[in-house]
Amino acid sequence: MRDLTEEQNQKLIDAAVAARQQAYAPYSKFSVGAAVLAENGQIFIGCNVENASYGLTNCAERTAIFAAVAAGQTRFLAMAVATEGGYSPCGACRQVLAEFCDDLPILIVDTRSDRQVEQVSLAELLPRRFRRD
Ligand code: THU
Repeated sequence: MRDLTEEQNQKLIDAAVAARQQAYAPYSKFSVGAAVLAENGQIFIGCNVENASYGLTNCAERTAIFAAVAAGQTRFLAMAVATEGGYSPCGACRQVLAEFCDDLPILIVDTRSDRQVEQVSLAELLPRRFRRD
């Protein structure tokens, strides 16, 4: 797991912050943006998409990963997640990330400053993940 350059970091953070503007969150009113950098250099974005049937809600992180996979990218270098408060990905998203990544740097961004507040790793967030070999 290699750290990104400062420029790559900032691009990913900016993409997550911008993606958050597209959040469809009329129920929770909690907007989340995510951006994932694929190994081929492309950035894929996602936002949370809620539903009147609450359980159908899709988180920003999974939206971004699914967009990447739909475009043929399954290998990732880093993800940024933007929330007001700097929250880290939920358990379901961690497991989806683990499907594609042994480990992944995750930049946690607080939109109150538009800055990265923390860098965590998927391995640290989801130790002993479920995996069938
Ligand atoms: N949410 C995400 O988009 N990502 C997470 O990792 C946690 C939660 C969304 C789901 C829902 O639309 C809102 O945040 C409140 O839970």
